[in-house]
Amino acid sequence: MRERDLVDAHLSAWIAALPSSTLYAPMAYLLGLPAKRVRPVLTVMSCELFGGAATNVLDEAVGIELFHNFTLMHDDIMDASPLRRGQPTVHAKWDVNTAILSGDAMLVKAYQIMGSDPLVLSTFNRYALEVCEGQQRDMEFEERTSVTLAEYKEMIRSKTAVLLGCALRIGACKAKASEADQERIGAFGEDLGLAFQLRDDLLDAFGDSTVTGKQQGGDLRNGKKTWLMIRALERSAEVGDERLLAELGKPVDRREVPLMLQVLRELGVQQEAEEEVNRLESSAFAALDAIAISDVRKEPLRALVRALQQRSR
Ligand code: IPE
Ligand code: IPE
Ligand code: MG
Ligand code: MG
Ligand code: MG
Repeated sequence: MRERDLVDAHLSAWIAALPSSTLYAPMAYLLGLPAKRVRPVLTVMSCELFGGAATNVLDEAVGIELFHNFTLMHDDIMDASPLRRGQPTVHAKWDVNTAILSGDAMLVKAYQIMGSDPLVLSTFNRYALEVCEGQQRDMEFEERTSVTLAEYKEMIRSKTAVLLGCALRIGACKAKASEADQERIGAFGEDLGLAFQLRDDLLDAFGDSTVTGKQQGGDLRNGKKTWLMIRALERSAEVGDERLLAELGKPVDRREVPLMLQVLRELGVQQEAEEEVNRLESSAFAALDAIAISDVRKEPLRALVRALQQRSR
């Protein structure tokens, strides 16, 4: 994909310019592992959609990817995840303190890039803080016994969806799109982001760890209130099945993930989640349709959504 190639080249040059000390080595490590680069590609595609030049937005595209990787470096500490992109997470390979500080420095680096254009910076500020708010709620939900699907949707809107919207808004902003169009492309990004996170939750449970590059079932083990878990707890209560609650009553390291997966399958929750993710992806296509630009210009974004519908990592 041409947009992807542009992002990769710009990011590789950025990584190559990093100093080699321990503060920067984890950044280069994480950024160098195989990733989808969805957010920076969205930034480039959005800029081109509204008539801007890709070369004019590559710095910001890298800035968005840096911010995303900062959230991942810290998220892996919060989620106690051993694997990321098929390799040990930064805190596992180095240690927690190194991952905290290198992540912080990556956030500063993202801000250095975003700060060069005041309009970009104000958009970025607005959504970067919301991501932190979403992450906080994600962790609070772990400790709660009951979370509704509506609360889950608002949590993932903040922790994940708004960053996809932000990536698109920044591309549109650099192309000098109207406020209304920036709003529309941001709404598309948020719809896409909701589907993206629900699919991520499905892959965490049912994906192949050698493909996702993450430990299978980490969310279930941690008692994450994903769509799957919330629905499974609802269905369990309806049919009087106590197996899931029994697992959640055990210490985290003694929970049996294969049994939890079996319960999810038996209660039909995997199937229901697949249907929900399809509905969310249809909403994303509809949000893109609502932008008054020729279909030919929208085709790269449509193709990206189609690719994300098929993703297995
Ligand atoms: C993982 O993001 C975190 C989520 C918001 C689900 P990606 O699935 O985009 O991860 P990479 O960057 O491709 O590794
Ligand atoms: C991450 O959500 C959202 C962030 C803000 C990083 P997850 O915790 O589900 O992401 P993965 O599955 O570890 O990539
Ligand atoms: Mg998390
Ligand atoms: Mg995680
Ligand atoms: Mg996940």
